[in-house]
Amino acid sequence: MPPVEISKDVYWVGAVDWNLRDFHGYSVDRGSTYNAFLVKDRKITLFDTVKQGFKAELLHRIHRIIDPSTIDYLVVNHVEMDHSGSLPELVEVVKPERIFCSGAGKKGLLAHFHQENWPYEVVKTGDSISLGRRTVQFIETRMLHWPDSMFSYIPEDRLLISSDAFGQHWATTERFDDEVDQALLLGHAAKYYANILLPYSNLVQKLLSQVKEMDLKVDMIAPDHGLIWRGNPGRILECYDEWSQQRSKGRAVVAYDTMWHSTEMMARAILDGLVEGGVGVELFDLATNHRSDIMTAVLDAGALVLGSSTLNNGMLPRMADLLHYMKGLRPANKIGAAFGSYGWSGEAVRLINATMEEIKFEVVDPGISVQYVPAEDDLQKCVELGHKVAHALKGGSGEGQQLE
Ligand code: FEO
Repeated sequence: MPPVEISKDVYWVGAVDWNLRDFHGYSVDRGSTYNAFLVKDRKITLFDTVKQGFKAELLHRIHRIIDPSTIDYLVVNHVEMDHSGSLPELVEVVKPERIFCSGAGKKGLLAHFHQENWPYEVVKTGDSISLGRRTVQFIETRMLHWPDSMFSYIPEDRLLISSDAFGQHWATTERFDDEVDQALLLGHAAKYYANILLPYSNLVQKLLSQVKEMDLKVDMIAPDHGLIWRGNPGRILECYDEWSQQRSKGRAVVAYDTMWHSTEMMARAILDGLVEGGVGVELFDLATNHRSDIMTAVLDAGALVLGSSTLNNGMLPRMADLLHYMKGLRPANKIGAAFGSYGWSGEAVRLINATMEEIKFEVVDPGISVQYVPAEDDLQKCVELGHKVAHALKGGSGEGQQLE
């Protein structure tokens, strides 16, 4: 793929990782891109680099525009290895006059690459540099999602280079949001938010207010992964506003793992009760669904009903995996309930409830445990649990929760 001129003398020169399938536990089933942006001005500047192994692809694209050794400045908006892995080799080739990064960025670069002699220049929110015709304004975005993260804003191009924020893990030949299927695009953006930025939702709210106060004129938002937002860049800001508020859309997720289908029978009966209660439901068998797809559904859900058989005095390993992952992502404003079958000890429901309480879900029922195989009256109790959760989701309990 050739470089793409996204604005006059501003080029996408990144790399496309078609074969990536896992991003530290997030299933990237359609690959990803590592976006880097080259600005041709009096000071030629490269914003971000790419993952180690993609250096040749990056340099090849830059070569089609300029000799890479003529680059003056490198800007490191984010230290994580998917954007800095090729930095040491780039520094060798480019011999930059300056490497701009945040204070935490400098610490992070030193801790990754142990190069005391690189020409670091630390910048903070409000600092700007001149590239010639253009200026670059820096906006620190600490903990979105690393301490070092920052945005670079070029007012002359009305371009916000937004690091990981507003990205999607999606490998495509297209570079702009208005060139792809909109439902797929927003699905990838939602999955990215749910699996990377969700724990920092309060900071996202603050950042959105800050950007509003700064009254930045933005025609284009260029994240470090996926498609560039140019058609209506306000749309992804609106999505982030909505997702970071974590308001329930009145939907439920039922997720379960099952040994001999008893817990599965219970899951389907609970789903029936939820649907009878007027709630839209997504049902996931953990044997066939990835944790990161379930988290995407959790983004819109107000209720989670989680089930596991008991195995060796605990829950099944895939449910433990989901709960561990979910706990780290800290979804807020959820109600919960648990269910599961057992043979003789039956700890799973209690353990699921305990973890849901740790995540600060409002557990609206002690849960249902059934020995071995549910009888008809057990399944009826599961339907009633679905009714109860639906009622609570619609405001029947959970006062003080942001439930709609
Ligand atoms: Fe795309 Fe936080 O790295």
